[in-house]
Amino acid sequence: MADQANQLRQEVKRRLHSGSSNRKTKVIAVTSGKGGVGKSNVSLNFALSLVALNKKVVIFDLDVGMANLDVLMGVTPKETIMTMLEKQLSLEAVVETGINGLQYLAGGHGIGKILTLDGQQLNHFFKEVGSLQGKVDYIILDTGAGLTYEGMRFLQAADDVFLVINPEPPSITDGYSVLKALNEKNKQASVKLIVNRSLTKEEAERTSLNFQKASVQFLNKSIDLLGAIPDDPFVRKAVIAQSPYLLEYPNSKAAKAIDELVRSYLNLPSVYKLGVKGFLTKILFHK
Ligand SMILES: Nc1ncnc2c1ncn2[C@@H]1O[C@H](COP(=O)(O)OP(=O)(O)OP(=O)(O)O)[C@@H](O)[C@H]1O
Ligand SMILES: [Mg+2]
Repeated sequence: MADQANQLRQEVKRRLHSGSSNRKTKVIAVTSGKGGVGKSNVSLNFALSLVALNKKVVIFDLDVGMANLDVLMGVTPKETIMTMLEKQLSLEAVVETGINGLQYLAGGHGIGKILTLDGQQLNHFFKEVGSLQGKVDYIILDTGAGLTYEGMRFLQAADDVFLVINPEPPSITDGYSVLKALNEKNKQASVKLIVNRSLTKEEAERTSLNFQKASVQFLNKSIDLLGAIPDDPFVRKAVIAQSPYLLEYPNSKAAKAIDELVRSYLNLPSVYKLGVKGFLTKILFHK
């Protein structure tokens, strides 16, 4: 059994290193403590802003509760990661190419099982998702809210974690709980704060400052603010139109804030660790 697992790891390593392109594929997990704070809108519009800068991006909807990126984009994908495994399909066959070439795939019903796969399905998952190494610049994971076991594993395995909060106290305290839990598992985790739905610049600053203070005081961890997205009625309008605000209302405050947030992200020193290889190894082998 141990031998078999070892063989599989060796095989996976070989495949992941045999990519022809030298793109450094980075995995970004977007999360929050409380639900409904804007993770899916941030994930989608962030991804589209990267695409506008000629980056190749795949976005995975890993919300184990309710997947909703497809609703925000107005697309209806036929397959999911789970059906890819059940039917032994290739990733290419199941990934939907959506708006402006953004690639999209939902985890699907029972995605939590991904952590306990074995044998043929494990091998298949590794082979297919691993094939993204070097082919895309970013894999963005829209994870569910809160402290689910699966969610935490995805966060631990990502190169960067975007923690979305809004100025309301429950979102801040629940966000803090996620940071604390992640910090207990991995002190080196690269977590960036995003304040969504602030009414003023001052409110955004105050919210992030309070969060950062608590994080330094109680966890001895400093967490950088990546950016703030204002509360903007055009976000709701875009959600209703099932079209991302970046494209539907490019001059809205929210769209401009997302573009700025992407620029800030790209200007940061790269924290690329192991990309897809590290991600897969960590989520599947508890490493
Ligand atoms: N910057 C914003 N300004 C105004 N409204 C916003 C903003 N961001 C999000 N919203 C509103 O909040 C709603 C929820 O956003 P979203 O679906 O992105 O949250 P979520 O964190 O992914 O939720 P869930 O936890 O259910 O997955 C949106 O439908 C929209 O109406
Ligand atoms: Mg969501």
